Amino acid sequence: TPGVRPLIAGNWKMHGTLASVRELAAGVAAGQASGADLLVCPAFVHLSAVAETLGSGSVALGAQDCHANPKGAHTGDISAAMLADLGVRFVILGHSERRADHAESDAVVLAKAEAALTSGLTPIVCVGESEAQRVSGEAEDVVAAQLAGSLPEGFAAAGGVVAYEPVWAIGTGRTPTEADIAAMHARVRAELEQRFGAAGSTLRILYGGSVKPGNAKAILALPHVDGALVGGASLVAGDFLGIAAAA
Ligand code: G3P
Repeated sequence: TPGVRPLIAGNWKMHGTLASVRELAAGVAAGQASGADLLVCPAFVHLSAVAETLGSGSVALGAQDCHANPKGAHTGDISAAMLADLGVRFVILGHSERRADHAESDAVVLAKAEAALTSGLTPIVCVGESEAQRVSGEAEDVVAAQLAGSLPEGFAAAGGVVAYEPVWAIGTGRTPTEADIAAMHARVRAELEQRFGAAGSTLRILYGGSVKPGNAKAILALPHVDGALVGGASLVAGDFLGIAAAA
């Protein structure tokens, strides 16, 4: 999108040791400055160590989830306020793995996104269709409904990010065709503009699902693809930086 700086985000999921994430973060931080913003999202227990490794450099820190409440009796949960206190700036919400593993509905994602905004975190709200929904031709409507249900009112004003991740493309090595990615991103843009007006025109829409150095250039060149949310390839600093260099 013209005038929008791409965001290349690494979702490290439930991977790594204290030692390995420090090394990975250092490798990313040492990479060439590129034409993209870089973000890494380690597991909660690794956030402090990675924050320390990244220091005051240009690579931003994100988390992979947060609770909808600012504090309280929620054993095992982490609030957006706690994340902000650690220097976290972004939080991935509604990833399909959380929607599946923890039965997170659009309403739950919406509540978490509200909490993120309240604590000054930028939410990265994930949406995407299943393979059955793609095959039956419902993909765009499914994604539009997820957006309508998951994005809070203040999303655009806060520069929120949408990540389109077709569930069947995650960790599978398969991606939609370029035409299908472009069509979905155009639909997401249209939904954002309809809901938020002009502010929706410059929000970043990331593509996620089997992004690798080899396919990044073609995907990132598509209209309304303003960056990538990268899983597997973000666990190797050179691959992640290779994707960033393609932006
Ligand atoms: O959030 C990013 C992720 O779900 C994509 O994973 O391994 O297909 O790049 P991967």
